[in-house]
Amino acid sequence: MNEAEARLEIEQLRRAIERHDHLYYVLNRPEITDEAYDALMRRLAELEQAFPHLITPESPTQRVGGAPAEGFATVQHRTPMLSLNNAFSLEEVEAFDARIRRLLDAETLEYVVEPKIDGLGVSLSYERGIFRQGATRGDGELGEDVTGNLRTVRSLPLRLQAPVSCEVRGEVFMRKEDFARLNARREEAGEAVFANPRNASAGALRQLDPRVTATRPLDILLYSIAFLEEDTLPEGWSVPTTQAQVMELLRALGFPTTQHWQLCSDIEAVLAYCDRWQNERSALPFEIDGVVIKVNDLSYHERLGSTARSPRWALAFKFPAQQAISVVQRIEVNVGRTGVVTPLAVFEPVQLAGTTVSRASLHNEAYLREKDVRVGDTVVVQKAGDIIPEIVSVRLDLRPADSEPYRMPTHCPDCGSELVHLDEEVALRCVNRNCPAQAVEGLVHFASRNAMDIEGLGPALAEQLVKSGLARGPGDLYSLTWEQLAQLERMGPKSAKNLVRAIDASRQRGLARLLYGLGIRHVGEGTARDLAAHLGHMDALLSATEESLQALPDIGPRTAQSIVEFFARHENRKMIEQLAEQGVLMSAVAEQTQGSVLTDKRVVVTGTLSSLSRKQVEELIRQHGGTVTSSVSRNVDFVVAGASPGSKLTRAQELGIPVLDEETFLNMLRGENA
Ligand code: IVH
Repeated sequence: MNEAEARLEIEQLRRAIERHDHLYYVLNRPEITDEAYDALMRRLAELEQAFPHLITPESPTQRVGGAPAEGFATVQHRTPMLSLNNAFSLEEVEAFDARIRRLLDAETLEYVVEPKIDGLGVSLSYERGIFRQGATRGDGELGEDVTGNLRTVRSLPLRLQAPVSCEVRGEVFMRKEDFARLNARREEAGEAVFANPRNASAGALRQLDPRVTATRPLDILLYSIAFLEEDTLPEGWSVPTTQAQVMELLRALGFPTTQHWQLCSDIEAVLAYCDRWQNERSALPFEIDGVVIKVNDLSYHERLGSTARSPRWALAFKFPAQQAISVVQRIEVNVGRTGVVTPLAVFEPVQLAGTTVSRASLHNEAYLREKDVRVGDTVVVQKAGDIIPEIVSVRLDLRPADSEPYRMPTHCPDCGSELVHLDEEVALRCVNRNCPAQAVEGLVHFASRNAMDIEGLGPALAEQLVKSGLARGPGDLYSLTWEQLAQLERMGPKSAKNLVRAIDASRQRGLARLLYGLGIRHVGEGTARDLAAHLGHMDALLSATEESLQALPDIGPRTAQSIVEFFARHENRKMIEQLAEQGVLMSAVAEQTQGSVLTDKRVVVTGTLSSLSRKQVEELIRQHGGTVTSSVSRNVDFVVAGASPGSKLTRAQELGIPVLDEETFLNMLRGENA
């Protein structure tokens, strides 16, 4: 291939990748599989490697590039990044409307209302459609140049849909789900956890090494245009004169914007919107701390102007904090599956955002020391990510005079062995492999829904099994008889028989779920599936080396090392042997997919099925060689529709994609097994 040909193909690949990024991250309507996308990326990287001088900073391969910085350069914002005036009640919102209507001498005013995303404000500049620089808000006048970190945000377009020069503003944040996963990963790895998504985003954005930022799942939504070079707008596009048009232009340029903004014809509609989101905030995938209300007509913005701190044409309606006060009764420590010891505050039960809460994780010793939570303390609790309760602060003014700082135990509360810090970990661990607390957690994980899915084997039963000596680990489960189980407390013959049946059924789950269930460090569900798909049988894992594992896609040195260490241990090899002897399937179920009805088929599931959970259908589709896709596009082969299907069904009908009901779908799969 000569350079001209390479240049052409590179440009085509970049356009295609940008289009798929836009479809995936902005429009939420992917058209190709992850595999097909990866293939495009690989081809682009290959060509760029052969012709390195053709690499440009906006190439999709350059999201994570560059060496760690020494520090951040200072950026002067083109126009100041102002803050917002706050209102804490609907009366204040009405007063705001009355005040500016008086100033403008207007009967009624139109407003645009948007969720107030609880993240970090950033400013992005684009030159002729190419992302050039991104900065934090800083003091509003001067921010920090975090371009390298912002490049790693996958939803941020590196090239716009039109070669426009502009400066836009928005919020960087982390989705609740991504935040929970990140923290779980950190807790598991013995690293300090983040108190809330906002802190996690701030930490990620201020990383000196963009490669670290790239491992933190940041997202961005844009909401204003601070500067627009009019001559760069393509023919037929016009300069926005309202905030509603700003939102539309941002979207047309390819920026992610919230779909929940609304144009309100008067303040009544604004109040209704505030009221609605105050109640429904937890339905959003990210945290919001209020609603931003903006006068729609931009000419009024100029007339109203700003104070030094904030514009007169906008207002933030802040939701009342979802917080409560309680008193710490005791501090417990919990020993996890991998031996990590987690302190936990138990407080008097309080109502918080609709549920009763009485415990909050204190994560680790460093966190506990920083918060200095003590028994008897009055504490402020809130829900982080609207789901996980956390202790925000201690009311020091109410602290009992005789209170003492809590000291972490030096020995495992369960087995008594000495606790240690491994390497540089903040976490304390019990490294006794025979620790019963770890055995209990290990069994619970093995039996969990996404692992071997043994119904009825929860924490209480796992504890009984370990305490009674009936089962120390997964290897012991499959030889249990119902008579043995029936001797346990609160276990009748009927539940004992059901449990034996559930254990029995789990033999066929296959290698991927078995591997995940073993709880090998760094082997989550995805990695377990990859391993099973590539290696096919447990034997291949027993003989794998770090090198052979690292040669597999997506397996890094840390994971490879952890797998080899796991299978090198005598007791683990024995357990695998025991499981195999008891007839637990050691091969990947996906092996059956050769020539299967669903091979290479892309399937969308919508609505509720009566006989299977969502997870189970997805698993079934994968087992039969199909790919589960979340949205309906022309590339989808068919849609399985259960009860109360949503807009996906309508869309499938519009596109003429076949729709199967539950029964037809299951018959199709059964027909194949027969
Ligand atoms: S407009 C001049 N819209 O809230 C006003 N801000 O407390 C510019 N924020 O600094 C801000 N969501 O970082 C606006 N939809 C939204 C927002 C939003 C979150 C942040 C922004 C601002 C802060 C003020």
